[in-house]
Amino acid sequence: MPPISRIGILTGGGDAPGLNAVIRAVVKSACNAGIECLGIEDSFDGLLEPDRSRPLTPRDVRGIMRLGGTILGTLNTGNPFSSSVETSEGTRSYSERCVEMFHKMGLGALVTIGGDGTLAIAHQFSERGIPLVGVPKTIDRDLAGTDYTLGFDTALRNITQILERSRTPAGSHGWVQIVEVMGRHAGHLALWSGVAGQAHIILIPELPFRYNRIFHLLRDRMGEPGLIEGKPRYAVVVVAEGARAEDGDTITLDDRQDAFGHARLGGIGDVLATRIANETPYESRAVLLGHPQRGGPPSAIDRIMGLLFGARAAEAVAAGDFGKLVSARGIAPACELSLVDISAVSGKIQTVDVARHYDTERYHLKGIGM
Ligand code: F6P
Repeated sequence: MPPISRIGILTGGGDAPGLNAVIRAVVKSACNAGIECLGIEDSFDGLLEPDRSRPLTPRDVRGIMRLGGTILGTLNTGNPFSSSVETSEGTRSYSERCVEMFHKMGLGALVTIGGDGTLAIAHQFSERGIPLVGVPKTIDRDLAGTDYTLGFDTALRNITQILERSRTPAGSHGWVQIVEVMGRHAGHLALWSGVAGQAHIILIPELPFRYNRIFHLLRDRMGEPGLIEGKPRYAVVVVAEGARAEDGDTITLDDRQDAFGHARLGGIGDVLATRIANETPYESRAVLLGHPQRGGPPSAIDRIMGLLFGARAAEAVAAGDFGKLVSARGIAPACELSLVDISAVSGKIQTVDVARHYDTERYHLKGIGM
């Protein structure tokens, strides 16, 4: 195989803090090794037409590490393997067009930064002969095969700060504040933000809950004397968007699905607040945190992990190690990086290890899951 002289870099799925650190590291490392980089815009869409990519030199990636989001843009709509596109050369199968353009653009490999959906697509492109290296990204931290996924630490920081700020209104009014957080079908964000932000109750998808148990725990907590005389105490409840009652289903925002067939989860916080208002003496408020959870500048950990992931991906490209995902054991600074086969992790998710982390006593919580 001739040595690679040009590679493409793309970001797919939801944005996450830390993506720009990867882009910076890949560009710097690849350019040092004499490999040119093209930034492919808006995920795989950027492969459809030649004007949807741009050269990236070390100069172009100056200062981007500190920025949230992705300088390349991203998408989580449209599945390349089940759609067609209008191109300057007529209607074409999306995926075939991408493969054709990959070669026309003189690319020798793709670095694909994304979560489970993007990696599933990457896997299919890899099976169609595109040499590719994946970098794990998602605030949900639910990818199989790696201890860390970019964006998780920043989202955890963002949510923890909001939990902190939820305390004063809840305490002043004496109400139950429910904070609904992202994470899809994994409770990592809810569990660890709840522990760090000292929520009283944490509800995660891995442990379906019972409403009566929640009401009981709230009575227990709210019955204690509050800071303000005559007012009940307050409580902060973190609920993962994928959490559900034992006798209920997960709650979705609407009937739509994203590009990867995922339902759009959301709304359990409001359902819970209504039940609390109707079935206990306490006033309750719910907030659905939404996309700002993954917004803002990346944390130090996401910057460092992004740099490490990017450098490892560039090394894999130079070594011709394709069809692989960069994987971390541990997190920076004590982490080891390796490569795992995308085929072995694609389509699998990693949820909370309940046996290891269900520990209300250690964290002095009223309840985790239930
Ligand atoms: O996977 C990241 C994530 O933020 C999930 O936690 C959330 O369920 C989903 O994306 C939201 O999707 P969208 O950005 O399409 O609204």
